[in-house]
Amino acid sequence: MLGRRGLFTAGSAALVAAMTPMPALAAPAGDPFTLGVASGDPLPEGVVLWTRLAPRPFEPAGGLPKADYPVKWQVAEDERFARVVKDGTATAAAAYGHSVHVDVHGLRPGRDYFYRFRTDRHVSPAGRTRTAPARTAKPERLRFAVASCQNYTDGWFTAHRHLAAEDLDVLFFLGDYIYEGAVSRHGGDRDDASLRLPDTFELATDTLDLYRMRYALYRTDPDLQAAHAAVPWALTWDDHEVEDNYAAAASRHDDVPAGDFLVHRANAYRAYWENQPLRRPRQPAGPDMPLHRKLRFGDLADAYVLDTRQYRTDQACGDGILAGCRQREERGRTVLGPGQRAWLLNGLATSQVRWNLLAQQVMMAECRYGGEAGRLDMDKWDGYPGDRAAILATAARVPGTVVLTGDIHFNYAADLRTDFSRPETPPVAVELVGTSITSGGDGLDVVPKLQQQQRHSPHLRFTNGQRGYVRCELTRDTLRADFRVLPHVTRPGAPITTRATFVSERARPGLVKA
Ligand SMILES: [Fe+2]
Repeated sequence: MLGRRGLFTAGSAALVAAMTPMPALAAPAGDPFTLGVASGDPLPEGVVLWTRLAPRPFEPAGGLPKADYPVKWQVAEDERFARVVKDGTATAAAAYGHSVHVDVHGLRPGRDYFYRFRTDRHVSPAGRTRTAPARTAKPERLRFAVASCQNYTDGWFTAHRHLAAEDLDVLFFLGDYIYEGAVSRHGGDRDDASLRLPDTFELATDTLDLYRMRYALYRTDPDLQAAHAAVPWALTWDDHEVEDNYAAAASRHDDVPAGDFLVHRANAYRAYWENQPLRRPRQPAGPDMPLHRKLRFGDLADAYVLDTRQYRTDQACGDGILAGCRQREERGRTVLGPGQRAWLLNGLATSQVRWNLLAQQVMMAECRYGGEAGRLDMDKWDGYPGDRAAILATAARVPGTVVLTGDIHFNYAADLRTDFSRPETPPVAVELVGTSITSGGDGLDVVPKLQQQQRHSPHLRFTNGQRGYVRCELTRDTLRADFRVLPHVTRPGAPITTRATFVSERARPGLVKA
């Protein structure tokens, strides 16, 4: 089992012997690696490695004094660390919550590597990561998974335990990594008697300390740690990393001034950066954090990791699931913001790869809720039809667009058309909406609300309301998606099964049940 320190005892002894003594700084008290390790954003020549020192994770500053600590890191070709290929020393700075971000370069493309950290006498769990294929490579396949929405209080992260056992090149996490609301002493519906959270977790997050402790709570989960230690993640956020359904500088609460909300957002973004495997250019400045970026996997795929929260126009007609809102169609309304939108459209139009993945948050397919009139959700792309039309018009000219989505805690397989009212026209792209890891609790296979949506929206090919993730494989011409589901999350240890498998051909988009 990867990530278990016991396996590395021999290697650890060698490591301790080989390393020079640590500088004489006050050593952290107790095991500082309670939050595990992570890697992310794979490039052909490297990955980002992450950890954060927190011997007492449920305290502000993780139980450490206001001091910086040197942290040694190693990257090896083998899991016993006999063949170390890169190493160095990073600083866990108090100003950044004692987090460590190492941007490793000089690795070989398309290969597995193992990494770990050490500070004082403590050695971290080991993680496995994988570099991306060379930019000139013509890979036969890319294996990835799509996950999102892990409300700690709604259940156990069993899905992550299963994700850790999948053979993946990368995991796209599409937001709601944390939830901002109160967490009771025993972790809500987990009702975990071994957990005794301090009362501070009853406070909704808004300060930097509260956000740091919230990430620490999530990161102490062993199943989440296993998934991070097994595969590099490419993450983006959604709303709950800050506040439910916020839009740019607008809180969901109308009485909160933008200036106040931007302080809140700055705290949230800073904690996000501190707690995720992201490169230095992603580091926030005040309330601004440039998160959207592109990852390339040879000539097989580009992954556009998008941010539909930071730059969006406020939700139309006061937000909600509404019929007859004309404001949503007004010119100038945008969910991506002008800069990100131009960057994405230009990237798609000049694509030099077989597939373009849009790893993003909210549902792009039109989704009609109940009744004849059909209400639309103003928080999704239905509230921003201008940006959607621009992307789908481009996708109609460039084959191989796949939209990956989180947010709504349901599985959907959706065909994307330039005009959703004309089901007789061929799809131009497909969308895989992945369900939540836990949010919403145990869930149901068949959800009447979703079946009603399918009746009004024939491009919705499949729906399901259980927890889990979507496992995908891209080959040169075909996308294959397995909807992996769990029977329950309010009790630990659920098995996982494939509820449905869909395929789509690059040359003829459209999801077909396999
Ligand atoms: Fe969510």
